[in-house]
Amino acid sequence: MSGMMLMLLLCLSVGTMSVVHCGDPTIFFTWNVTYGTLSPLGVPQQVILINGQFPGPNINSTTNNNVVVNVFNNLDEPFLITWVGVQQRKNPWQDGVLGTMCPIPPGTNYTYKFQVKDQIGSFMYYPVTAMHRAAGAFGGLRINSRNLIPVPYAAPEDDYTVMIGDWYSKSHNQLKKFLDSGRAMARPDGVLINGKSAKGDGKDEPLFTMKAGKTYKYRICNVGLKNSLNFRIQGHQMKLVETEGSHTVQNTYDSLDVHIGQCFAVLVTADKEPKDYYMVASTRFSKSVLTGKGIIRYENGKGPASPEVPKAPVGWAWSLNQFRSFRWNLTASAARPNPQGSYHYGKINITRTIKLINSASKVDGKLRYAINGISHVDPETPLKLADYYGIREKVFKFDTMKVDPQSTPAEKITMEPNVLNITIKDFVEIIFENPEKSLQTWHLNGYSFFAVAVEPGKWTPEKRKNYNLLDALSRHTIQVFPKSWAAILLTFDNAGMWNLRSEQPERRYLGQQLYVGVENIKRSLRNEYNMPDTALVCGLVKGMPKPPPYST
Ligand SMILES: *[C@@H]1O[C@H](CO)[C@@H](O)[C@H](O)[C@H]1NC(C)=O
Ligand SMILES: *[C@@H]1O[C@H](CO)[C@@H](O)[C@H](O)[C@H]1NC(C)=O
Ligand SMILES: *[C@@H]1O[C@H](CO)[C@@H](O)[C@H](O)[C@H]1NC(C)=O
Ligand SMILES: *[C@@H]1O[C@H](CO)[C@@H](O)[C@H](O)[C@H]1NC(C)=O
Ligand SMILES: *[C@@H]1O[C@H](CO)[C@@H](O)[C@H](O)[C@H]1NC(C)=O
Ligand SMILES: *[C@@H]1O[C@H](CO)[C@@H](O)[C@H](O)[C@H]1NC(C)=O
Repeated sequence: MSGMMLMLLLCLSVGTMSVVHCGDPTIFFTWNVTYGTLSPLGVPQQVILINGQFPGPNINSTTNNNVVVNVFNNLDEPFLITWVGVQQRKNPWQDGVLGTMCPIPPGTNYTYKFQVKDQIGSFMYYPVTAMHRAAGAFGGLRINSRNLIPVPYAAPEDDYTVMIGDWYSKSHNQLKKFLDSGRAMARPDGVLINGKSAKGDGKDEPLFTMKAGKTYKYRICNVGLKNSLNFRIQGHQMKLVETEGSHTVQNTYDSLDVHIGQCFAVLVTADKEPKDYYMVASTRFSKSVLTGKGIIRYENGKGPASPEVPKAPVGWAWSLNQFRSFRWNLTASAARPNPQGSYHYGKINITRTIKLINSASKVDGKLRYAINGISHVDPETPLKLADYYGIREKVFKFDTMKVDPQSTPAEKITMEPNVLNITIKDFVEIIFENPEKSLQTWHLNGYSFFAVAVEPGKWTPEKRKNYNLLDALSRHTIQVFPKSWAAILLTFDNAGMWNLRSEQPERRYLGQQLYVGVENIKRSLRNEYNMPDTALVCGLVKGMPKPPPYST
């Protein structure tokens, strides 16, 4: 079927259910998800491919595009992909997490439909089922600015996506078995850049080429499993222009710490001697340093990359200072990166404060990770569907977790669905407190938030005077250093059921995640689209009559 035909069909269905908006262009993808064998670290291993590619194909979209992705799951297990950082305004139905969607059964296909509404920037997608992310099926997702909206820098010669991440030579099934048996995952075996690691034997193919004198955009995302990575390019500086959907103040950096789940867009000018250069990603805060390399080649350049790669900074104070240097460019026009929040977020009164403390401990002899003493378990019936079909009490309870900043969380970990009830439009302050010795990264679906502070020690209300209430970045991830805290501010105005999770898949898989239920109490279409006709059903809602649709 031609793209045009399909578009017409989708437009006809708008009146009833579809979230595809007719005025805005639609881009279509058909993805075949299969197992394959590759040797990213030199030894053959099982990987997950999308249309034969590892990493998966890039999604190149423009603000307000409707994105339609028909995913054929040819694995032998249920599968879902989430679109990290896509805000899914009014649309919790296509978010690709187990709390809102039934996984795509093996041997079948499902078509995601969502709009990249009012967003720009560098994002990614990855699978959230089992430990599939340890095998692939991840890739870049970019949202270009519409032509009529100026971007605060000259158009680059080309636009490159760089997926970096630590990597295991064990299969996703082996890793899952470790976790299921109650053990933690060991250290990773290497670091990959776009699925490869240069050997430095003179035979490496370049990952990217540059023309002398031209400026290129590189979008760097850490899709790894365990480690923060420091990213740098031999002999070249990087001018930061955007982070997770916000145009930044354009500082220049020799290297960037990219924590898991984070994306940065930088400009790099090819103004050095024309030859090969290494781009380097190496693990941070780890006992032994793992390094991944890739080659950037100057067109018509002569000579190999120097084997001497620049060193990464040491310690996390450097990283904290770098975080503080990231500022929102308040004068750059853009699709509002945070349509739901106010531009003047510092002037809004906080309606609720929520404190979340991560922990790790054993339950019945098996390792679990928790938030405020609760280790999340995904029920077979997705939370969102249970709520929509009116059978919530059979599946989960709201607010079993204590989130008041004064309360001390239970020492003993309980395993159950962890779902917070947040009133729609509340302006909420979330404090992440990390009592552990390792760095944490958190991500929230359905929103971006203002990352106003990251500091060592414990949070107290007095610390609010240290918040950046003027030009903090609006983004969707936040790192919390060891024995430190972080604060974010946001308006919960997107109705739905939204996943807040550790960006380390091991911690997420073993329970360090929760859902935020932002109820569409009036069942109004103004707050939330109806469940699409094509939505998969499973668990207790399978076979149940569909609830009456939302009205105006
Ligand atoms: C997906 O790839 C597999 C393996 O190459 C192939 O057998 C299958 O026909 C493909 N399916 C689609 C829908 O393209
Ligand atoms: C991505 O989309 C933009 C805007 O439509 C276009 O100019 C650009 O050539 C595309 N890039 C790729 C790699 O397809
Ligand atoms: C499965 O793919 C076919 C096209 O190959 C499409 O017509 C159908 O709508 C898809 N099914 C779902 C549930 O997305
Ligand atoms: C912010 O954006 C404006 C408008 O595009 C641009 O002129 C300015 O250079 C940017 N400022 C910084 C500090 O990057
Ligand atoms: C915020 O709270 C202060 C103090 O309670 C109050 O005076 C002010 O009117 C409130 N502002 C808004 C916009 O509600
Ligand atoms: C969620 O919170 C709202 C507002 O406080 C309240 O009206 C509603 O009853 C709560 N829902 C549940 C299920 O607790």
